[in-house]
Amino acid sequence: MPKKIKYKRILLKISGESLKENGYSCGIDFKILGRIAQEIKEVTERGIEIAVVIGGGNFWRGINASALGMERAAADYVGMIATVMNAVALQDALEKKDVITRVMSAITMKEIAEPFIRRRAVRHLEKKRVVIFAGGTGNPYFSTDTAAALRALEINAEVIFKATKVDGVYDKDPLKFKDVLKYDKLTYLDVIKKDLKVLDLTAITLCMDNNLPIVIFNITKDGNIKNAVLGEKIGTIISREVS
Ligand code: GTP
Repeated sequence: MPKKIKYKRILLKISGESLKENGYSCGIDFKILGRIAQEIKEVTERGIEIAVVIGGGNFWRGINASALGMERAAADYVGMIATVMNAVALQDALEKKDVITRVMSAITMKEIAEPFIRRRAVRHLEKKRVVIFAGGTGNPYFSTDTAAALRALEINAEVIFKATKVDGVYDKDPLKFKDVLKYDKLTYLDVIKKDLKVLDLTAITLCMDNNLPIVIFNITKDGNIKNAVLGEKIGTIISREVS
């Protein structure tokens, strides 16, 4: 029996960190990048429209630089530029696999990427191009999670898939503690009240106000992007009601 396709248009949020090889402090692992590109390709082959928001944490974390004394706004702008590097690398990896893509940046860098124009992004998706959103929201003080929520709403995506390095949302950090409990479903309010820190508050409240579900899943496992997008019960779903 073919698997049931659950979604028509989705937004995939990939952290910069997930592109980095284990043990390295920064950079891109081309094997990981190639695997992610292959899985995105398989999703598009099912007819699902996919937009990607990519972070830049494998090169730069604005908040860390700010803690070391750099002006927060300046540090965040460097982080936005880091996301453009990842977006162009992902575009290359996808095009090597014959997936048609467009990179759109919130910060004008027109020699490298198209400027973000909402209606144009939607048109690209309708034409079955993978759209990669770079540059975050274009504003300091906002995370790429917030950019993911904002762009998902702007393009009318049905859901955000947030890729992480663990299997979902836990009551405690599973990389630090052993006695952890994994949640299959949570409400937005649970995430806020329990201070679970899976997304920042700006992103979670934006999703809550607009009833946009978020699926948190592990991108380090082969096939998980495809499995999550095709509606398999993996990871943790955050929505208005736990049914
Ligand atoms: P349609 O009009 O739907 O066919 O979309 P299109 O993206 O193919 O149209 P267009 O002719 O505008 O773009 C052709 C190529 O140029 C694509 O690869 C775009 O990503 C790229 N492109 C368009 N505008 C810009 C820009 O401002 N900067 C950069 N770097 N590339 C651009």
